Amino acid sequence: MNILVLGSGGREHALAWKIAQSPLVEKVYIASGNGGSSEVGENLPIDPNDHTAVIAAVKERDIELVVVGPDDLLAGGIVDALHAENILAFGPTKAAAEVEWSKAYAKGIMKEAGIPTAASETFTDFDSAVAYVKEQTLPIVVKASGLALGKGVTIAYTHQEAEDALKECFVDAKFGTSGNEVVIEEFMSGLEFSTHAICAGTKALMFPSSQDHKRIFDNDEGPNTGGMGVVAPLAQVSSEVMDQVRDEIVLPLLSALEKKGRPFSGLLYPGIMLTTDGPKVIEFNARFGDPETQAYMRLLDSDIVPVLLASAKGDLKDVFLSWGTDSVACVSMASGGYPGSYEKGKVITGLTDAEEGSVVVFHAGTKRDRDDILTNGGRVLNVTATGETLSMALDAAYAGVKKISFEGAQYRSDIGQKAL
Ligand code: AMP
Ligand code: GLY
Repeated sequence: MNILVLGSGGREHALAWKIAQSPLVEKVYIASGNGGSSEVGENLPIDPNDHTAVIAAVKERDIELVVVGPDDLLAGGIVDALHAENILAFGPTKAAAEVEWSKAYAKGIMKEAGIPTAASETFTDFDSAVAYVKEQTLPIVVKASGLALGKGVTIAYTHQEAEDALKECFVDAKFGTSGNEVVIEEFMSGLEFSTHAICAGTKALMFPSSQDHKRIFDNDEGPNTGGMGVVAPLAQVSSEVMDQVRDEIVLPLLSALEKKGRPFSGLLYPGIMLTTDGPKVIEFNARFGDPETQAYMRLLDSDIVPVLLASAKGDLKDVFLSWGTDSVACVSMASGGYPGSYEKGKVITGLTDAEEGSVVVFHAGTKRDRDDILTNGGRVLNVTATGETLSMALDAAYAGVKKISFEGAQYRSDIGQKAL
C-alpha cells in the first residue's frame, strides 16, 4: 500500500523511515517533508493544512492511509475531513483531540474520570483569575488553555509573576485566542517523564517511558523549545509505574472519551510527573512527540504499519508492538538563535560520516539544494543512537553530533545526564 505522512519535522522523517521498512508498504509520501524524508519516500509540495489538496493527493496516488504528525492539523479537523471522504487516517478526530488543544477540556475530563493530575481552576477573564491567584500558595502554574507551541506555560514563583502571565494571556493576547481561557494549577514536583500509547476506542498499546529536554541550554536553563533531546527508557520509571500510567491514566481517559461520544483513535502522549503520590498528568498530547518519536522508532522492533492501520480502523485486535531491550538517545541540533530568530540556508556537512555504527540522523528543518543539504528551520537535525546501556547510546549519539557541522549549530551537551 501507499502511505502519506503529514508534517515536515524530525518526527515525520522518523515515522516515514519506520513505515518505509514495512513489507506491506510500496511507497511513502510526506507532505511536505524535509531534506531527509525525501530519502525514504517522496516529498509532496502541498500544504498539509489544506484539506482539499491533501484529499486530492490521496486520490491521485492511491494512498490507503494518512498518518497525521502535528497537533495543529488535528485541531484543524484534518482527520474529520479525511473520514468524510472515506479515507483511513491515523490520528484522533478534532473532538477527541480536544484533550490536547484545550487544557481546560483536558482538566475537566480528568476531574470527571478521577485521573490523577494537579488540582486546577479554569478562568475566562483577567480579574477573577488575578483575584484567585492572590489567594493561592506559591509556586503556581499558569497555562494558556489552547495550543501555544509549548510556550503558554508559566511557573510563577511570586504573585506578580502569576499576574504578569495572566496579563500576557488575557490582555496582551500573546497566544492569540489560545490565551482566552486560562488554567491555573497546583505546582507538582517530582521526576518528569512521558510515554506514548497507540489507541483505538478503549484499547491502548503502550510505549516505553522517555524523557525530553525542553529548555535550550544545559542544566535546563533558557527558554523552552520544541524539545532538544530525548532518552528512553528511563531506569527511574519502574514497570509498576508504567502499569499505573496505563491503568489509572490512559485507559480511564479512553473510556471517558468513548462515553462522551468522542472515541479516541491515534496516538495519546501523556506528560507525567512522578510525584510522591504516584504518577500525575501534566498534560495530554494527541499526537506523536517530537523528538520522542525519533527515539521511539529506533527502539520499535516490530512493524508499525499494521498497528497504525488497526488504530485508523478503530480496532487494535490482533496487533502488537514489540520493543527492543536497548537504550536510545536522541540529540537535537538547532540553528543559532533558536528558539528566537535564526538564519536559514547554512550548508550542513558530515551527515554521511555521522551515520556510523548505531547512529541514524533524522532531519527536521533541512532542505535539499542539488547536492547540498541546507538548514531550513529552528531544530535542524536529530542524531539518534542505540546502545546496550544508556551511556553507550549517549556516547554514540554525541560521536555522531561531533561529526556534523553547520554555521551557528547549537545543541545541549547534557542530554540524558539526569536519567543516568
Ligand atoms: P505543558 O505544556 O503543560 O507540558 O507544560 C510545560 C512544562 O511546564 C512541563 O513540561 C513541566 O515541566 C512544567 N509544568 C507544567 N505544569 C506543571 C505543574 N502543574 N507543576 C510543575 N510543573 C509543571
Ligand atoms: N517533545 C515535546 C512535544 O512533542 O510536545
